Amino acid sequence: MAEVVLEGVTKRFGDVIAVRDVNLTVPDGSFTVLLGPSGCGKTTTLRLIAGLEEVTEGRIYIGGHDVTHLEPKDRNVAMVFQNYALYPHLKVYDNIAFGLRAARRPKAEIDQKVREAARLLGIEDLLDRKPRQLSGGQQQRVAIGRAIVRNPNVFLFDEPLSNLDAKLRVQMRTELLRLHRRLRTTTIYVTHDQEEAMILGDTVVVMKDGRIMQIGTPSEIYNRPQNIFVAGFIGSPEMNFLKGRYMDGVYLHPSSGTRIRLDIPAAEGEVVLGVRPDDVYLAEHPPPEATDPLEAMVDVVEFLGSRAIVSLVLGEDRVRMVVPASLVGELREGSPCQVVFDRGKLHLFDPETGERIN
Ligand SMILES: Nc1ncnc2c1ncn2[C@@H]1O[C@H](COP(=O)(O)OP(=O)(O)OP(=O)(O)O)[C@@H](O)[C@H]1O
Ligand SMILES: [Mg+2]
Repeated sequence: MAEVVLEGVTKRFGDVIAVRDVNLTVPDGSFTVLLGPSGCGKTTTLRLIAGLEEVTEGRIYIGGHDVTHLEPKDRNVAMVFQNYALYPHLKVYDNIAFGLRAARRPKAEIDQKVREAARLLGIEDLLDRKPRQLSGGQQQRVAIGRAIVRNPNVFLFDEPLSNLDAKLRVQMRTELLRLHRRLRTTTIYVTHDQEEAMILGDTVVVMKDGRIMQIGTPSEIYNRPQNIFVAGFIGSPEMNFLKGRYMDGVYLHPSSGTRIRLDIPAAEGEVVLGVRPDDVYLAEHPPPEATDPLEAMVDVVEFLGSRAIVSLVLGEDRVRMVVPASLVGELREGSPCQVVFDRGKLHLFDPETGERIN
């Protein structure tokens, strides 16, 4: 049992509050991703769990034990860093064996574990090389191997794929998933890449300014973002946000005069209507549950092969829409165009607090 629990954890560096009152339970065997923009406290949270930083307030439990004041070596966690942190003068074999030797494990056990990890990661042929003779992806595998052999209760990954090129990143992502399916070790994984977070995580924790903004499955975070920040951070192209008023079940977009009957139970008054580009359709090709049509103008069409991103002008706002490539012929830049929204996929937010209201 290696559940990880953070209870009211705060970390200050002088005046900077890097982590603010974080409460988080990472279930045993879960793959939990901490996601957020640069400086939001992801690395600090990971380092607190590893014991590389001391909490200012709060408690940390691993496997039911209070580890708040334990040394890193007594927490049985393994951290994989963004820069791999391999020992340049040691061969791959010795890099992987390092932690086991430091723990004075018997030679035969070390050999067996190193070879087993190398097999799992497909780097058996590289054991005699030095790190500088390896590609970035191979070095990353060595760093992961070094973590695996210690058979930790928890894996902590800090942006482990960010130094790799796009193609290798996609490949390593799949390998990490496969590895987790086999080992089922509780994993906490930090990234600022929302796509990586959605693909890898069974749970995604979205952070901003040291605070947790939302915790949920990838589908919860995508389909029911709890606030404008999460709604805007997840999904590509980004969700459209349209300021307007909501009264008697009708949304009014002032600058275009557009009225949309929504019948969403929500408070009346100023609102921000959120709609993902994937949920905007040409009026001639509507989804089963569509809103009334909106009069917009086609500004720019960006062709992406199988689909296109279309920028529309709606009053003083811009609305982006994703259409299948087969419909691009129906659009002309500078021409008017009627669109509808998928009714079931609209989001209403309070413009003051940014919180979801539907
Ligand atoms: N040792 C430190 N001393 C002072 N401030 C620090 C220290 N470490 C981190 N911080 C500050 O704490 C905040 C959170 O930093 P952290 O490294 O956890 O962010 P992050 O989410 O990992 O960002 P990135 O995506 O850029 O790696 C930042 O404002 C950072 O400047
Ligand atoms: Mg970081």
